[in-house]
Amino acid sequence: MATQQRLLSHFADRNGSERQNSGWAELWDTDQSDLWDRGTPSAALIDWVESHPDQLQSLSGLHRPRALVPGCGKGYDVAMLALHGFDVVGLELSPRGAQVATSYAEAELAEPHDYNFGEQNDTPDGGIGSVNIITADFFDKSWSQNEAESSGQKFDLIYDYTFLCALHPDMRQSWAQRMLELLSPSGILICLEFPLFKELHELGPPWPLQGVYWNLLAQGGDGKVDGHNGDISDDAPVSAIGPFVRTSRFKPERSYPNGKGTDMVSIWRRK
Ligand SMILES: C[S@@+](CC[C@H](N)C(=O)[O-])C[C@H]1O[C@@H](n2cnc3c(N)ncnc32)[C@H](O)[C@@H]1O
Repeated sequence: MATQQRLLSHFADRNGSERQNSGWAELWDTDQSDLWDRGTPSAALIDWVESHPDQLQSLSGLHRPRALVPGCGKGYDVAMLALHGFDVVGLELSPRGAQVATSYAEAELAEPHDYNFGEQNDTPDGGIGSVNIITADFFDKSWSQNEAESSGQKFDLIYDYTFLCALHPDMRQSWAQRMLELLSPSGILICLEFPLFKELHELGPPWPLQGVYWNLLAQGGDGKVDGHNGDISDDAPVSAIGPFVRTSRFKPERSYPNGKGTDMVSIWRRK
């Protein structure tokens, strides 16, 4: 069966968050992470981070910037951000997935692949940050309360790639609410929007997301966009009532081939 079809069939009758969660755990436990694993960190994120050193510095002030990668999978982006000087939390529901991510990050920080870097080609002067892989459900508040207590800080940068599209549409509003809770007041949420090439009526995961980020974050909607109730254009109105402001949206020069040239990067701040 084709990869996309295998993923769809696996989740076909799994409504409700518990059944969704056990679905992901089962895929990890049966070694099926090939269904989504792209084998490298996001080139689009590498390029953005390397070309915005001043903005990143201003996000965090005196402390090392703190990043969160929810649904981190094998942890490619977690290790890459640590190699760019962030203290990073990778969050993974599956204990097996978290184990894989921990080993990957350890190996990568000790001996990084070249694919972690773009033009910059090396770790910045401040040195490598830390990696903390946490096994938890993004929607469960206890992991973040423990985190906030131990670090005293929220996240300066949150990166979402193939996390929102992995969640059932019923969970989208809670996703936006959690992002709001977890981001520091001056922090940024970076989304590599995928998949944008799928028609909105198609099933997931990956669930089609055209117009969904805008609806959830800028318009404060429930994210159940069907092409009629969400503004899916690039020049959507800025006078929106949602909890976030989109500060930029652009087509990255480099992204994964499976985005079919349609991936977009959007950057959000709390209002
Ligand atoms: C489509 S995969 C993407 C993984 C990773 N972002 C990547 O690009 O390789 C989605 C991941 O999110 C994890 N996940 C799903 N629901 C989650 C939740 N509620 N909390 C934390 N992780 C979750 C799954 O176990 C899976 O590893």
